[in-house]
Amino acid sequence: MKQATNYAEYLQINSLLNLQKSLSGSAGVKPCHDETLFIIVHQVYELLFKQILHELDSFVEEFSRPPVSENSLGYLVARLERVTQVEDLFIPLLEILETMSPMDFLEFRTLLVPASGFQSVQFRELEIKLGLYYRKGEKTVAAHVMRALNPEEQAKVSGFLATPSALALVEGWLERMPFIAAEHFDFWHEYEFAVLGMLAEERRLLARHSSQDPAAAQQLLQQWEETQLIFTSLFNADAYGVLQASGQRTLSQKATLGALFIFLYRHEAILHQPYRLLTALLTIDEKLTAWRYRHALMAHRLLGSKVGTGSSSGHQYLQKAAEHSRIFVDLFNLSTFLLPLSQLPKLPANLKKSLNFS
Ligand code: HEM
Repeated sequence: MKQATNYAEYLQINSLLNLQKSLSGSAGVKPCHDETLFIIVHQVYELLFKQILHELDSFVEEFSRPPVSENSLGYLVARLERVTQVEDLFIPLLEILETMSPMDFLEFRTLLVPASGFQSVQFRELEIKLGLYYRKGEKTVAAHVMRALNPEEQAKVSGFLATPSALALVEGWLERMPFIAAEHFDFWHEYEFAVLGMLAEERRLLARHSSQDPAAAQQLLQQWEETQLIFTSLFNADAYGVLQASGQRTLSQKATLGALFIFLYRHEAILHQPYRLLTALLTIDEKLTAWRYRHALMAHRLLGSKVGTGSSSGHQYLQKAAEHSRIFVDLFNLSTFLLPLSQLPKLPANLKKSLNFS
């Protein structure tokens, strides 16, 4: 007979509650009340990272075995959306930690050196598996990250780079979308015409305001010209290649057109799930970035301009890392080329038919 399941045994509560070992209060250091909070908040994060990685791993595994069926797309989207919900806990946790004052933190901070968030292997796993290194075109783990880790952790983190990231896998999936085939060229041509019309309208608006502040108007005009150039490059392999080579785009031209098509025609039944999938990835990235900025602010508030326990410049390093660690940037950029539904070109009948579940 199976023994009755017991709450504490099943959840290993005794082990869990025995994992908060303060450094203060021993070896001649007086106890610091707030160190318990510091430990528990970090542990909660690590548990949440574990849950997120559990979801992400199932996504990577399924997307590594194409073709991805409609059925699996359904539950994978639900799992990615779950990740975004878990991320909603990130910033409130920082707010709880901020109930600790800078002076209370100073009571035990020196005991932590040289330990630091730099050594969170799961955080590195998360950013690598999402595709940060793929987006940056980097094939080895950054030196400052490796320096903070022991040899075993270094091997682990380098190993994460050996598996394809979510970004790379989504790129392959988008490239396999049938909607960008040559037989639908006329449709793309019509779309291009509609967007060029929209851009021309924006150019007219800019001209109207140029007399008020000529210097600012010149800058906006330059931005407009860049946007126009990027748009035309979507349909020109050579020009697109230049954008990729300069790091302004990660996704291939084909994948970008696939994503654009999904965003534009998300109201077509068969594109609902792909749209939710791309949106979930965007949101995951957005929430992670929001956390990075918020964490930088917290470091500023608690440390001022002191350096970090991991020897970085502190809040300045974190602020820069937030700016440079976005992953699904290409998807964010696509919004530039979206049109109001009323101006979307009608899809050719054969293409429309292929988007119908029947
Ligand atoms: C008192 C609260 C905290 C302060 C003052 C703080 C400060 C810092 C600083 C200055 C760094 C840069 C590396 C260094 O020189 O140490 C850093 C990195 C990091 N911290 Fe925190 N941190 C705090 C809490 C947390 C919490 C609760 C987490 C949750 C897991 C966390 C996760 C990280 C991660 C993942 C990094 C590496 C970020 C990257 O390289 O992009 N930190 N932290």
